[in-house]
Amino acid sequence: MELSRDAILKALEHVIDPELRRPVTELDMVREIEIDGADVSVTIALTVAGCPLRESFQSQVVEHVGNVPGVERVRLGFDVMSAEERSALSVKLRGGVESRSKGISVDRSTRVLAIASGKGGVGKSSLTVNLAAAFSALGHRTGVLDADVYGHSIPHMLGVTQRPVVVDKMIVPPVKDDLKLMSIGFFLDDNAPVMWRGPMLHRALEQFLSDVHWGELDLLLVDMPPGTGDVSISLGQLLPRAEAVIVTTPQPLAQEVASRAATMAQKTNMRLIGVIENMTSEVFGTGGGARLAAEIGVPLLGKVPLDVRLRECGDGGEPLVWAEPDSETSREIVGIAEAIHAGRQTFKALPVLS
Ligand SMILES: Nc1ncnc2c1ncn2[C@@H]1O[C@H](COP(=O)(O)OP(=O)(O)OP(=O)(O)O)[C@@H](O)[C@H]1O
Ligand SMILES: [Mg+2]
Repeated sequence: MELSRDAILKALEHVIDPELRRPVTELDMVREIEIDGADVSVTIALTVAGCPLRESFQSQVVEHVGNVPGVERVRLGFDVMSAEERSALSVKLRGGVESRSKGISVDRSTRVLAIASGKGGVGKSSLTVNLAAAFSALGHRTGVLDADVYGHSIPHMLGVTQRPVVVDKMIVPPVKDDLKLMSIGFFLDDNAPVMWRGPMLHRALEQFLSDVHWGELDLLLVDMPPGTGDVSISLGQLLPRAEAVIVTTPQPLAQEVASRAATMAQKTNMRLIGVIENMTSEVFGTGGGARLAAEIGVPLLGKVPLDVRLRECGDGGEPLVWAEPDSETSREIVGIAEAIHAGRQTFKALPVLS
C-alpha cells in the first residue's frame, strides 16, 4: 500500500508544540512532507532558529509518524518561519484569547493570584513555585509570573534555562512540564534598561504584560516584588481582579504588615484572600500568621514548616512538591492550594478591604 500524505498529516496532528500547546498542523508549522517508499521526511518550521524544543519535536514526530502503518524510517528536518509567517501565527494565537484589560493578557476566566509579602526574604518565591507545582499537580492549567524586578529567582527554582521565544512581539512563556513561566528577569541583564526603574516603569510593565501569550490558563500565580513600593503598586494595577495571598514569617510585626497589605490592596483593587505562615518551627515559633490573618480579617490558609529540603529543592531547580510529594511540607502546600481552590466562591463574596 502506498503511503499517503494525508495519513502523515493526520499523524502530525498529534505533534504538539510544547509551548504553544497546539498541534503543528494547526500552527502551520509543517513545511514539507516527502514520501519515498517506506521513508518519510518531514520538515517543521520553527518559530525561531535554535529553538530549544527541537528534541521534543523530534521524539513526537518519530513516535507518531513512525506509527503510521507502512512507515519504516522517519526523518525530521527543521526550517525557520519567515517574518510574515510569524506574524500570521501571532494573529492566529491572539484570536483565541479575549483580552482581560489594558494590562495582562489572560482570559477573563483565569484566576490571578498575587503572592505578596510585607518584606523580603520570607519565602514568597519558594511558595509561589511550590504552590504552582501543587496547582499543576492537581490538574489546573497553571502559569507563573515572576514579577519581582529586584529578585527574579523563579527560573532558577524551576530549573528553567531556556529563554522565551518571541513571535512577532508576542512573548511565549517557556514551560517546565505543564507549568508555564514568564519572568521579567529574562529581559533584564546586568545593564538593566532604565525603563524598568524610573518613570517609564509603569509603561514598560504594561507593555511586557500585554505582550506575553499565556494561552489558556486556569490560574496565574504572580510572585510580587516585596513591600508596597512603586513597582508593586504599578504591577498590581495591571493585574485587574487579582486576589492576593500574603506570606509572612512566624514572628511578623502583624500590625505593620497588615497595614501595608491593606494599603496595597486598596491602591490596586486586589482582594486579600488569606495569609500563609512560612518557616514555622521551634526556632522561629508559630502564631505570626494567625495574628496577621486576624488583623486583616482573612483566613490563615496554612503553616509551612521550616524545612531544609524546601530550600535544597529550590536550589536544585525542582519544586519540593514535585520532588517529594509525600513530605509533610509538600502536603501542607498542596493543602493550601486546595483551600485556595475550594475558597474561590467564598473569596469572591468577601468585600474588598478598604
Ligand atoms: N519553609 C522554608 N524552609 C526552609 N527554607 C525556606 C523556606 N521558605 C523559604 N526558604 C528559604 O529562604 C530563602 C528565602 O526564600 P525566598 O527566596 O523564597 O524568599 P522571598 O520572599 O522570595 O525573598 P526575596 O524577597 O529575596 O525575593 C531561600 O533560601 C529559601 O530557600
Ligand atoms: Mg523572591
